[in-house]
Amino acid sequence: MNAHAKTPTTHSAYAATAEEAIAAQDALDGPMTSERATEVAMQNTLLTPRFYTTDFDEMDAIDVTPVRGEWDKLIAQMKSDPNKGHFKKNEDWDTVDWDGMEPRLKAEFTDFLISSCTAEFSGCVLYKEMKRRGTNEDITTLFQLMARDEARHAGFINDALREAGIRVNLGFLTQAKKYTYFRPKFIYYATYLSEKIGYARYITIYRHLEAHPEHRFHPIFKWFREWCNDEFSHGEAFALLMKTDPKLTQSFANKLWIKFFLTAVYSTMWVRDHQRPVFHDALGVDVTWYGQEVFRKTSEISRQVFPITLDIDHPRWRPNLDRMEAASRQISRAKQRGGIAGMLSRIGGMAKASFAFAAIFTIPAQKNAVPDSPRLQPAY
Ligand SMILES: [Fe+2]
Ligand SMILES: [Fe+2]
Repeated sequence: MNAHAKTPTTHSAYAATAEEAIAAQDALDGPMTSERATEVAMQNTLLTPRFYTTDFDEMDAIDVTPVRGEWDKLIAQMKSDPNKGHFKKNEDWDTVDWDGMEPRLKAEFTDFLISSCTAEFSGCVLYKEMKRRGTNEDITTLFQLMARDEARHAGFINDALREAGIRVNLGFLTQAKKYTYFRPKFIYYATYLSEKIGYARYITIYRHLEAHPEHRFHPIFKWFREWCNDEFSHGEAFALLMKTDPKLTQSFANKLWIKFFLTAVYSTMWVRDHQRPVFHDALGVDVTWYGQEVFRKTSEISRQVFPITLDIDHPRWRPNLDRMEAASRQISRAKQRGGIAGMLSRIGGMAKASFAFAAIFTIPAQKNAVPDSPRLQPAY
């Protein structure tokens, strides 16, 4: 019964740890009209955000001595907690007319919120687990701070979803969603990139809406500037972690892995965003421009630590991203169709997507001289 539920002392926005934030969010959940959001969040496809697990002992053994000066500065900044209390509705939160929202926009926008909430929470569960398992104080301190931020972000998106009568059940998701194992170095590449691309996505939308406020159809976008600064700091932390071991970014094999992750993360974003045309129209954003702009910012930032960047102006780049998107549509249509014809069409779609991926992956990368000190400040 709700009357007996533990009353949280704070909203997730004020929580000092991820656990407090999740408890505060769970306590807000009365009976909901729909579990659909949780069902969507539970999906594991190539395009949906996943939950990750890794070799926590190996990560716990990282020695940050080679980057100690920068490390201590970053941790002090995160501990000072400039965004405490930010991720909560206030007087700037305009009333949202969910019932009056054009149905296709409503569908795409809730899909965007659910997918963002799952991605934020995916970071939270991974970071929280590292904090729980670790003994290395540098590492556990960092991961606790990052888990705190991600739980607040996920909680805030859930606040927005709740107004539409849905929510992602965070506690349930932690227990029930499938976890994918990644070796620590893959976690560094993938998570570093997703933090930095997250920064680039949020700040690009924020700046666009600053110039065109008439397109701000939901108040959550007003929160994106402080939000993206959190993601920026998280990315900085992973840049420092990668700096502790030069092999991670300099060996031949690892350079190929970096290229693979850059290609996979960029193309996934492209395909996923192009599947939300009505949402981007409502924002007044040309989704192709947006994709390239986010890649440009992310590439520029990633020069702080990655020895290569992708050539996103190469003639093979855009046509093959579009082919991947078409293949992805074919695959999802074929899945719905089922039967032999569906299966054949699905295999065809997967082959098309693989060829397009290979065509992009084999574009020569641009070499980059990595600076000695990776630290950057958010500049966009
Ligand atoms: Fe986040
Ligand atoms: Fe983050």
